[in-house]
Order: sequence, then C-alpha cells, then structure tokens
Amino acid sequence: MATRKILVTSALPYANGSIHLGHLVEYIQTDIWVRFQKMQGHQVHYVCADDTHGTPIMLRAEKEGITPEQLIDRVWHEHKADFDGFGVQFDHYGSTNNAETKHYAQTIYRTLRDAGLIEIRAIEQFYDPVKNMFLPDRFIKGECPKCHAKDQYGDNCEACGTTYSPTELINPYSAVSGAQPERRSSDHYFFKLSAETCQQFLRTWTRSGSLQAEAANKMQEWLGAEDENKLSDWDISRDAPYFGFEIPDAPGKYFYVWLDAPVGYMGSFQKLCSLPSPAGGRGVGGEGTPIDFDEFWNKEKAAQSGTELYHFIGKDILYFHALFWPAMLQHAGFRTPTKLFAHGFLTVNGEKMSKSRGTFITADSYLKQGLNPEYLRYYYASKLNGTMEDIDLSLEDFVAKVNSDLVGKFINIASRCAPFISKRFSGKLCATLSDDAQQWLKNALFEGETARATTICKAFDDRDYGKALREIMAVANEANRYVDELKPWVLAKQPDAEAQLHEVCTVALNLFLQLTVFLKPVLPTLASQVEQFFNITDQNWMRVEQGGTMLLAHTINDYAHLMTRLDPKLIAAMVEANKESLQPTTPSPIRHAEAQLPSPLPPLPQAGEGNKIAETISIDDFNKVDLRVAKIVNAEHVEGAAKLLKLTLDIGEANTRTVFAGIKSAYDPATLVGRMTVMVANLAPRKMKFGLSEGMVLAASGEGSGLYILSPDNGAQAGMRVK
Ligand code: MSP
Ligand code: ZN
Repeated sequence: MATRKILVTSALPYANGSIHLGHLVEYIQTDIWVRFQKMQGHQVHYVCADDTHGTPIMLRAEKEGITPEQLIDRVWHEHKADFDGFGVQFDHYGSTNNAETKHYAQTIYRTLRDAGLIEIRAIEQFYDPVKNMFLPDRFIKGECPKCHAKDQYGDNCEACGTTYSPTELINPYSAVSGAQPERRSSDHYFFKLSAETCQQFLRTWTRSGSLQAEAANKMQEWLGAEDENKLSDWDISRDAPYFGFEIPDAPGKYFYVWLDAPVGYMGSFQKLCSLPSPAGGRGVGGEGTPIDFDEFWNKEKAAQSGTELYHFIGKDILYFHALFWPAMLQHAGFRTPTKLFAHGFLTVNGEKMSKSRGTFITADSYLKQGLNPEYLRYYYASKLNGTMEDIDLSLEDFVAKVNSDLVGKFINIASRCAPFISKRFSGKLCATLSDDAQQWLKNALFEGETARATTICKAFDDRDYGKALREIMAVANEANRYVDELKPWVLAKQPDAEAQLHEVCTVALNLFLQLTVFLKPVLPTLASQVEQFFNITDQNWMRVEQGGTMLLAHTINDYAHLMTRLDPKLIAAMVEANKESLQPTTPSPIRHAEAQLPSPLPPLPQAGEGNKIAETISIDDFNKVDLRVAKIVNAEHVEGAAKLLKLTLDIGEANTRTVFAGIKSAYDPATLVGRMTVMVANLAPRKMKFGLSEGMVLAASGEGSGLYILSPDNGAQAGMRVK
C-alpha cells in the first residue's frame, strides 16, 4: 500500500471556556482516526490550537483583571491538560495568537485585496457609549420584537425562536455595561463572497466529493439555484478595541476572529514544520526529512505530491468551513481541503447539556472523578457513524456498555486465561496449534471468506466507528464462546488435560491480542499495557491483517488487572459536582436600562418602624461626606466570601480604589464592569479578611430582597463630586 501524506485538524476550541464532554466528541473522534491512519503506516500530522481572538476573550480578561495574553496562556495549559488526559495526541497544539497565523492571515488578506475581492463599506451598528465599543450581536439584549420576551440576545429569541437583527430589539441594552446602545456608523472590510468567481468555485467544490451528503445538501441550500446569487459578502473586520490581528494598512481595524481562526490550522502546522524533532519521529516527514509546509498548502505542490487535508468539525461551524474557508484559500493561491468531516452535537440523557442538571460536564471534572478516560473514548466510538447526526450520552447506557462489552466481554478473556499461562506454563504460550484450534481462530476472525480485519479497517477509515466496534465485539463473542465451551477452569483440574489447557489459553490470549490491536485507535493506553503484558512492542495493523500472525512459544508477563468495572456512583458524583446551583435572583442589566426609561415608578416604601428617616443633620455634616462618581473598571467574586464582590473603582485619581461591596446576591460581576456608580471616597479604609476596602459604594434596599446600586445620569465623569 502506498504511504499517504495526511494533514488532519480538529476545530480550534475557544480560549474563553473549558473543554467539556461535547467538545470531546470531536477531539476523540479525530484522535481515533489519526491513530488508525498512523497504524496503517501512513504519514499523518494532527494539529490543532486554541482560538484566542475576539470580544468575549477581551472582556473576560478585563473582568479578571488580567491581559488577554495572560488569559489565553492560562487556558492553553488547561486545554492541553484536558486533551492529554483523554489521550488526544496532537502532533502540535498551538495558538492562533502567534506570528505564523498572523503571517498567513495577512498574506491571504493581501492576495484577496489585490484580486479585488475586498470591499470597504460603512455600516451602522450598536455602540456602547459607556464602554466605548461596538457591540457584537451577542452582547446586545432586549425585548423580543415578536413575542416580547425580555432579556433576549441580539440575534435570536430563545423563547420563540425568531431570528432578527439587534436593531429590531425593543429597549435594547448593552450586556456589557447595561447602557442604552447608540447607532453609529463605521467602515467595515468585506470579503466579496458574492463575486461570480466565488459562486462558481463553490458550486464546483460542492460537487467535488469533499462533503458528506448532508453537508453537500446544506451547501446547495446556501448557494441556491444556478441562476440565483444567494451568497452575501462577509464582514471580516472589527473596530478597536478588539483582541486580534490588525488589518494591514488599516489602523484601528482588526480581523474578525473567524477570519484568522481557520488560518490557525496553517499557523499550527507551520510551527510543527519548524520544530526540531528526532529522525523518524514526530514533526518530520518520515525518515528524518523535515515536513515541507508547501507540500501541504501550496496549491501546485499539494496537487503534485497528492497530500491530503481533512478538517473534523461540528455541524455548527460548517458554514465557515464550507463557504468562507475554501473560497479564501482558493483565491489566495492555497490548496483547498480534501474533505470536511462534520459531526453532530452531543446530548446527555437525551437532552441538551445543562448546567442546572449537572450534565454540562467538563473534561476536567470527569478526570478528577478518577474515571478512566478510555471508557468515554470507547462509548463515543460505539456511537459515532461518520454522519452529522447528534449523538447521545445516556449515562445509564454508558455504565452498561462499558461494563458489559469492554470489561465483561473483552477484558474478561484475558483475566480468565492469563493466570493459567503464568502458573502452569511458566508464562510461555504453546508452540503449535491443533486443526481444531485453527478452525476456532478462523471462525472468530473471518466472516465467510472475508477477514473481519478488512471490514473493521474500512469502518474505521469511513469514521463509522460504531460499525467497527460491532465487528470487534463479534470477534470477542466468538472468543468468549470458545472459552465457555472449552472451559479452561475445568481442564485445569484434569490431570491429563495439560496440553489442551495450554492450547485453549494460547488461542484465547491470541484472540485477545487481536482484539487489542483492533481497539488500539480507541484504547491506546490499554493497548500499551496489553503490549507490555504480552512482552511485545508497539503493534501496528500488520498483526491483524489477513487474520493475524499468532504469537506462539512466546513468553508473556504476569497478568495484572487491566481495567475495572465502571462504578455508577462515580457518575452520580460527577453529575453532582457539575451542578451549578441557580442563583436566587441575578438581576439582569435591564434593571439599569429600565431605570432610565420613563416607566411608572413603584410606590415609595412607607416610612414605618425600622425604616424611619434618620435624625436631622446640618449641611456641614453632609459636606463631610465626600461622594464621588466612580467607574467600575473591574468586578469579581471573592473566594470564600458569601456576600461580597470585589470592585475596582476609578474616581479620577492616579490609582484605582478597591472596595468590597456586599452586593453579591444582586449582581453578576460581569454586568457591573464599565458601569458608573457613586462611592463614599473619604471613608476610613477598613481592613477586611480579604484585603483593604478603600471606600463604600451606595446602594438602595427595602424591606424585601433586592439591592440597587446607584447610577449617575449619562454624561457624568469618573471623579465628579456628588453634592
Ligand atoms: N473556535 C471555533 C472553531 C474555530 S475552527 C477554525 C469553535 N470553538 S468551540 O470551542 O465552540 O467548538 C470547538 C468544536 O467543538 C467545534 O467543532 C464544535 O462543533 C465542537 N463542539 C462544541 N460543543 C459541542 C457539542 N455539544 N457536541 C459536539 N461537538 C461540539 O467553534
Ligand atoms: Zn420571542
């Protein structure tokens, strides 16, 4: 078989969140395919990276009081640890925020611009006058124009499902500052996807077999009929402030995160090409030759050398990968993907993952629970079939499948037979096999004249891992039937059955080894333990081709337990650990926006007992209190504090002030950042358990629950005195 040269990617996870079990559907799926292809002897490079740019990352860093670079560095390590934990073995795991990605993003942009495919147009968008930034749709909230549900996002209503543009929202407000957004115009850069050349190219590309049937249908829908032009130009710029790459010759304009994200595939691969690496090892093109970037990305060179490029993606990002990305590459002189492999979404117990139900399970919490990551790899593999259908993780079924198939059928073969080899035959397998034994082996490893290895191999290659595992389990069933019929534990008690016992255990263990090699792409850690047990080194697919080469007259090691049953209690504990208790009342920022609207005011509280107006004071008394307008530049939770938020306030001094405010029950810190409020600036600083509090913010409260911090009217500046 000719050695293929394959570059494989998984989608780049956003650097503003943790890896969860949904993500792992993709990374585990890709990793299995990569390991399988490597076992076939192909030259495979698997790269990925963190997707680090965009507004959410910028705002999150600000909220945490760190730079975006610090944030993405921390998250990179978290993501990397999660992937390592689940055996997802990238040849390189990078970041989009590097020189390589920047270089290719700019190169592509310049080529597109010179080809007349970039256009500048002014567009009107919502602008947050408090935060001084344009707001992405997701950061604008308001009332749904259709069903009037409150607090809906700027792009669609979660209550009635209507999609609209943020300008259609009733009483829109900024989810960043709570302020009422203004409409402002600014120049944006567009990639002219509507150009004839893009349309034509995409029509041809759709028919080239690069897409699964479902994806090709979607494309037809997006492209429309031959005489239609349904594609619109793509807005690829964002205005400062933005965390990303500046557009060449356009100060203050940045590439929209989705422009440089797929370019991150190139950037990460370029890094891999330049890594020093041992001869024949990772990071080389085989036999010690460095990998040639151009061989994989340059249009002509890639065509000449027949390199292949595959992107594994979720169905939610098909639009970006099937339209923008190939069109960009094509018109910038790069090769286009050989195939896109899109998959469906994960549901848990038949429903969308949910934080309140505890089914939004992070990779880290799974590992922390001490659960074997290969249980999940096995379960996902059993569910995947190479289509875009959603896949369900039924937690009950998960336990059942792991225990009955993986442990009950597979591991059981070894645990029932291996001890006899150690105890009775000094660890040595028998030297020859009877015709009867040969027949059993053939029964297990062939279906008619077809080697099951061939079927399994094809199923892995087609990403129909479910089918591969069903075939593998058919072999395991045969192996178990053999053991059940020949009963080594009975033979062991018969003085004249020594030779037969030896043979039965040898056959069963050989079948176990075959099964291990079949399962190696799915269970790499287990496979290497089994290899140690068999006293053999790294097995590739050769061992299972043509029904396999039997290990005979070979000394194996003592059997140590390989995998235990999955305890359902651990699953229950994991779900519990992921449950996010619902905050009693987290007021949305609309409270603030509404306060500025001429809506009817609630009745004033009656001045009864306990709410009596305090004793009269003189103006001089009042003037002793120095009240200042303060801008909340940061707000965060305080570890171990039930009621406090830590606020960083700007009151126009050289340094900001830190104030611990007892408003945690009423405010999500994220909604406070950027807001203006009022503070007592001359209160004696107070040393608290959590640090020094340098003042006090003012808030209103009544008899019931509810706490409302004060806001000055629009236009007030930080540091202004309140009198
Ligand atoms: N950053 C973009 C991808 C850029 S690729 C140039 C992104 N990131 S993501 O973190 O939201 O998702 C990463 C991958 O995980 C995507 O392919 C996405 O479809 C997949 N999944 C995220 N949640 C998922 C499920 N619940 N189920 C299955 N896959 C899911 O999109
Ligand atoms: Zn609605």
